[in-house]
Amino acid sequence: MITSLPASTRIYLLQCVAAIALSVCPARCQTAPVYSNPRAPLEARVSDLLGRLSQDEKLSLLTGGSFCASNAIPRLGVGALRMLGAGQGAGGSTGPESAGRATLFPAAITQASTWEPDLAWRIGKAMGDETLNKTTGWQVLLGPAMNVMRSPLCGRNGEYFGEDPYLASRLAVSVIEGTQSTGCAACAKHYAANNEEVDRGSVDVRVSERTLREIYLPAFEASTREAHVWSVMASYNKVNGYHSTANKYLLTDILKDDWGWDGVVMSDWGAVHEVNRVINAGCDLEMPGPGFLTPPAIRIAMDSGAVKQEAIDSNVRRILRAMIRTGLANPVPRKVDNSVLNSAQNQKLTFDVASRGIVLLKNDGHLLPLDASKVHSIAIIGPAAAHMQYGAAGSPDVKPYYSINPIEGISRRAGKDVKIEVVEGLTPGPNAHGDEKSYAEAAAAAARADVAIVLASTMYEEGEGRDRSSMDLPAGQADLINAVAAANKNTIVVLNNGAPVTLTPWLKNVPALLDAWFPGQEGGHALAAILFGDINPSGKLPCTFGARREDYPDYGNFPGTKGIVKYPEGIYVGYRHFDKNRIDPVYPFGYGLSYTTFAYSNLRFSKPALAARGRVNALVDIANTGKRKGAEVVELYVRDPAPRVDRPVRELKGFAKIDLAPGQKGTVSIPLSGRSLAFCDVPGKCWRAYKGAYEIEVGASSRDLRLRAKLKLAANYAEPVAHMGQAPPPPERLADMEKRLKLVDLAKGCPATASTQEKKDTTPSAAFDGDDSTYWSSAFKDPQWLQVDLGKPTMVGGVGIDWTIAYSTTYRIQTSMDGAQWKDVYSTTQGQGEVEILHFKPVSARYVRFYGEKRASKWGHAFYTFAVYGR
Ligand code: BGC
Repeated sequence: MITSLPASTRIYLLQCVAAIALSVCPARCQTAPVYSNPRAPLEARVSDLLGRLSQDEKLSLLTGGSFCASNAIPRLGVGALRMLGAGQGAGGSTGPESAGRATLFPAAITQASTWEPDLAWRIGKAMGDETLNKTTGWQVLLGPAMNVMRSPLCGRNGEYFGEDPYLASRLAVSVIEGTQSTGCAACAKHYAANNEEVDRGSVDVRVSERTLREIYLPAFEASTREAHVWSVMASYNKVNGYHSTANKYLLTDILKDDWGWDGVVMSDWGAVHEVNRVINAGCDLEMPGPGFLTPPAIRIAMDSGAVKQEAIDSNVRRILRAMIRTGLANPVPRKVDNSVLNSAQNQKLTFDVASRGIVLLKNDGHLLPLDASKVHSIAIIGPAAAHMQYGAAGSPDVKPYYSINPIEGISRRAGKDVKIEVVEGLTPGPNAHGDEKSYAEAAAAAARADVAIVLASTMYEEGEGRDRSSMDLPAGQADLINAVAAANKNTIVVLNNGAPVTLTPWLKNVPALLDAWFPGQEGGHALAAILFGDINPSGKLPCTFGARREDYPDYGNFPGTKGIVKYPEGIYVGYRHFDKNRIDPVYPFGYGLSYTTFAYSNLRFSKPALAARGRVNALVDIANTGKRKGAEVVELYVRDPAPRVDRPVRELKGFAKIDLAPGQKGTVSIPLSGRSLAFCDVPGKCWRAYKGAYEIEVGASSRDLRLRAKLKLAANYAEPVAHMGQAPPPPERLADMEKRLKLVDLAKGCPATASTQEKKDTTPSAAFDGDDSTYWSSAFKDPQWLQVDLGKPTMVGGVGIDWTIAYSTTYRIQTSMDGAQWKDVYSTTQGQGEVEILHFKPVSARYVRFYGEKRASKWGHAFYTFAVYGR
C-alpha cells in the first residue's frame, strides 16, 4: 500500500515514523543509523550513508529526478534536493512545482552598487528563509551568480555583481553565508567565464590562466574557501576547449583540489552533453534529469572501463553531503512556515537595499533632492514609469506579492497637493517606440510641470539567453529625453537597467541622473525616497560607464567568431582597461554622488610594515562636511609602482561604507594581506608579491583618489597553488588531426544529400564546405542519414566527424557503389561526440553515408564536418 504513494509522501511518512521512534524511545537513539543522526559528525554521516547504498541507488543519484530536484533515496528516507531559481529571491520560474510568490529583492547589480556586504548577508539570509518555507519547502537556492561583467552587452549582467572580482567576491561571500546560515544551500554559479548569452551552450572561451585566476575565478575561490558554499554550478560554455561540465581542470584540479572544496558540483540546466568525461571531470550531479547520466548509460561506461567505481563513489559522496547538510537525512522533517514569505522585515530589507543601491550620477545646481514644499507639479514620463523592470529577467524571476512602480512611489511621497501627470512618451503596444507625436505629448506635459522625471529602461533587451545588440537605450528613448529636457530645465533621468547604457546623446542636456538598476518590489518607494531626500543616495557604480561601445575591452571580441571567443584583453577588464588605455569614462567604476560631502584624511596603517604572512589595516578618517546625514563608500586601490610583470594601474582590494551625521567624523579600517598585493605567477605556480613599497590609494571612486600612502611589504610573498599552469591544451580540431596524421579529406566540396535538415542554413553541404563553423543538422527525429557522392569509385578507409553538441550515440558508417545498396563499415552504440576519426577496412565505394539511429540530445544529428579518407 505504502509503495503506491508518491516518493515524496513515502519519505515524509518514513521521516515521521523515525521521528516518533526517536521521541518515544530515547534508548533507541543509540541504534538510529549514524547518517540520520544530526549530532554525528558530517563525514561519519556521509560515509555511513554511502556504505548503505546499493549500486543502483548510487547510479540513480548522478542525474536529476525532475526539472528542479535531484533523485531521492526513498528506501532510507532521504529526500531529494529541491532547487529554486535565485539571485533576487526564492525564485518562481524553475518549474511548475516552484510556482508561488516570494519577496522580490533588488537584483545582484543593485546589491553590488550598495557596496555593503552586510546588506548582502541579510538578503542571503532572507532568501534562504523564504526558500526553506516556500510552498512545501525547498533546500537549494541556485545562486548567487558571480560572473564578472566583461562586456556591457552580456544579457545577464544584471544578475551579476559588476566588473571587479574583489567587489564580486565580497558580495558573493556574504550572500552565501547569509543563505547557508539558515540551513539552505547556496550555489555559486556559473563556473566559469560564462560572460555571454547568445551562444552560451557551445561557445569556447579562450582565456589565459592568469586572467582566469585574477579576474574570472576569485569570486568562486572566495565562495569556496571563505564561505564554504555547499554547491557550485558548472556553466554552459566551454573554457579553453572543454565544456565546463567536462572540464577536469576547472572542476577537480582547481575547484576541488587547489581550493580544497568539499561541496557538490551540479551542471547548469542541460549543460551536460556526454557521460564519461563528465563523471571523470567531477561534475557530480547532472541537472535537470533524467539526462545523460542515467544508470544504463553509466553501466555501459563502467563496463568499457571508461568510468571507474571510485569516480562514482566520489561524486555520490558529494551529493550525499549536500543532502545531509540541508537536513534531508534528519529524522525530523523541517517544519514549513509560509508566513515567513514577504514578511514586513523582508519588505523593509528590499526597500533598504534598493535605496542604498540607487546611484546618483549627476546633480547640477542641486536640483535634487526635490523640495516637497516647492514642487507643485511633476510630469512622470517614460516606459519604466508604469512598467518598471524590478529584477533581472530569466531564471532568477520571482513573482512578488506586490510591487511599487515609480508612478505609485512618487505620487504617494509627493502627496495629493502635487499634480502628477503621466505620459509614456512612446507609442503604445508591444513594439513600443518613439515618434514625433509621442515626444510632443511628453514635452508638453514636461513644459506644464515644475519637474519632469524620465524613467528610461533597457526594456527587457537584457536577460538570460540574449545579449543586447547595442548599448543604446532602445525605442528612441534618447530622443524622448532630449525632447523633455528641451521643454523643462528641471529634467531628471532615472535609468532602469542591469548594465551600462550610452549616455552621451543626451547627458549634457539634463541636470540630474540616477541609476535605479533593477531595484526589487519596493523600487518605486525607494526611488521616491531618494528623489525627495528622505534617503541620501550612497550607491556607487560596480561597473564603468564608458562613452562608447568601442571603449570597452571586449569590443571586437564579443561574442566571438566560429564558436570561439578570445579574451585578448586578458586581465584588463572594466576599469583596469580604461586606466591602462587612458580612456576617459563618462562615469568611472566606483563613482556615485551624495547630497552631502565627505572629507578624507589621515591615511595610515596599523603597523609600519606588512609581514609576508601577516595582516595590516589601512585606516582613514572620513568627515561628513555637508548638511545632511549620509553614507560614503571608501575605496582602497593597490598599485605596484615598480611592477616586474605587466600589472594593472590600480586594483580594488578593499572598501568600507560609513554612515555619518552632519559634522560627524569617523574612521574606517580596511584589512590588507600579502594576497591583496599579489599577482598570479603562472610559471612560478603561485600568487606572488615581491617585497618592497606598494602604493595604497584611497578615494571616492577609481578616478577620484584623495589620499595616497606607501605600504611596505617586509618580505617576498608566495602562496603556492598545486595545479597552477597545468591546464591541458585545448583538444585537437579535426583539421589539426588530419594534418598530424597526413589525412586528405576526399569529400570536401562533394555533392551531398540528407534525409532532412533542421533549418534553412543547416544544409547537407555545410558539412563538406571546409568551414568548421557551418554545420549540418537533421530534424529532431531518429533515424536520419546524410550521404556524400565522391564522383567515382574510390578506395576509402576512414571518416572524420567534427560533432556539434547535438551528436549521435548510435550510428553507422556505410558505403555504396550505386547509392542504393549500402554496406556497414563501422557502427557504434556509444558515441561520445566531440571530434572522431574512425578507421575501417578499406573498401571501394562511390558513396559514403552516415546513418544515425539514436541522438544524444533532444536536438538532431549534427556535425560541422564530415570527412572521408582514402586508404
Ligand atoms: C540558468 C541557471 C539557472 C538554471 C535553473 C539555467 O538556464 O543558466 O542560472 O540556475 O537555469 O533555473
